Amino acid sequence: MDKIVVEGGKRLTGTVAISGAKNAALPILVSALLTDGVCTFTNVPDLQDIRSILLLLESLGARVVADGHTIKIDAATLAASEAPYDLVRKMRASILVLCPLVARLGHARVSLPGGCAIGARPINLHLKGLERLGATIDIRHGYVEARAHRLKGADIYFDTVTVTGTENIMMAAALADGVTVLRNAAREPEVVALAEVLMGMGADIQGAGTSVVTINGVEELRPTTFEIIPDRIEAGTFMAAAALTGGDVTLTHCQPDHLSAVSDKLQQAGVVIRSQGTSLRVTADKAIASVDVRTQTYPGFPTDMQAQFMVLMSCAEGQSIIKETIFENRFIHVSELRRLGADITISGDTAVVRGVKALFGAPVMASDLRASASLVLAGLVAEGLTEINRVYHIDRGYEQIEEKMRQIGAAIWREKAS
Ligand code: EPU
Repeated sequence: MDKIVVEGGKRLTGTVAISGAKNAALPILVSALLTDGVCTFTNVPDLQDIRSILLLLESLGARVVADGHTIKIDAATLAASEAPYDLVRKMRASILVLCPLVARLGHARVSLPGGCAIGARPINLHLKGLERLGATIDIRHGYVEARAHRLKGADIYFDTVTVTGTENIMMAAALADGVTVLRNAAREPEVVALAEVLMGMGADIQGAGTSVVTINGVEELRPTTFEIIPDRIEAGTFMAAAALTGGDVTLTHCQPDHLSAVSDKLQQAGVVIRSQGTSLRVTADKAIASVDVRTQTYPGFPTDMQAQFMVLMSCAEGQSIIKETIFENRFIHVSELRRLGADITISGDTAVVRGVKALFGAPVMASDLRASASLVLAGLVAEGLTEINRVYHIDRGYEQIEEKMRQIGAAIWREKAS
């Protein structure tokens, strides 16, 4: 298995282009199932998770043509309505096919995603929403089986804000008979992007980006084209890298508005951030100050940036309190960061991070996507070599991370593990 090796101590400077957002691309690629023609999506990142979802769409009968970052999907030939265990276990976001399949074919059988390293991650709210739209749901032998002749609009309240839950139900409601109102809906930019795609297909959606989304169902949707929005978490990760190394890095192809919470915390930590159009320049020329962080749903500070910010706080002056409110087990990176010399203690959902003078390279193990990113960041400043094992996690969500980091001066490379 490959490993990534980072030699710490290089100051990052220069320009790096941000890729399309994984978490926007996944539901958007799936939404092609709602039409029976060719949808074209551009700026799709080249990632393992994207390859997994395309395989799933093909297994359902859709035709997929990939040309660099442009993906064409033709679901006219949609034939199967089953998402098997082998595909779903590789990527939980596969659950996103549930609602489009029911809306289009009247039936879906989707393997239940299990828990994952960061939490139990149930899908009860996806199922409750679909049931409220009139589907019958049966859970047997590890599969969810859902049926509906034609879904019917309904008033749906989400107990907890759920990103993919909102996306799944929005796709079902777009083809339902009548009006659906989603309350306590997720407001993430990825949800808004999906709503824009659905509207491009002819859906009638109001309020996307607020917590109440109203969807007036239509009889059918037509193919569309869409450019995937920039990846705010990849951008945030590079911002943290620039801050950590006392660097001066300009990100291009990003959407600064989507990064307000991250920019605000970095500014409080003493980092200078200048945005101009779709570029962000991050300059760090003084010691990093400690700042407290609490993860929240958008527009709050993203849980997907918690691990990376913790590395920055590990190298800050003073003590920082980091509270994780979205997932119950998203501190797995802490024990690995401690191996590099970080001073972090955890109590329940709260981590107390005391800044240290230096981190020291060591072999570490990646446990999930954002944890791996945090280990790469730690490696950038740790003295000596940091070896990150199980890098398949990072390949799920960061396009060409070593190439991009090298471009701005990092000493980072990939090795085949013996
Ligand atoms: N939840 C429930 N029931 C449900 C759905 C969610 O209790 O039916 C709970 C979850 O257990 C969690 C909270 O609600 O405690 C929020 O989970 P959410 O459903 O919003 O997460 P998700 O949709 O499964 C997406 C991203 C994650 C990101 C979270 C939170 C995609 C494909 N994934 O997951 O991204 O962390 O929203 O912002 O969009 C990543 O990219 O590394 C990643 C994990």
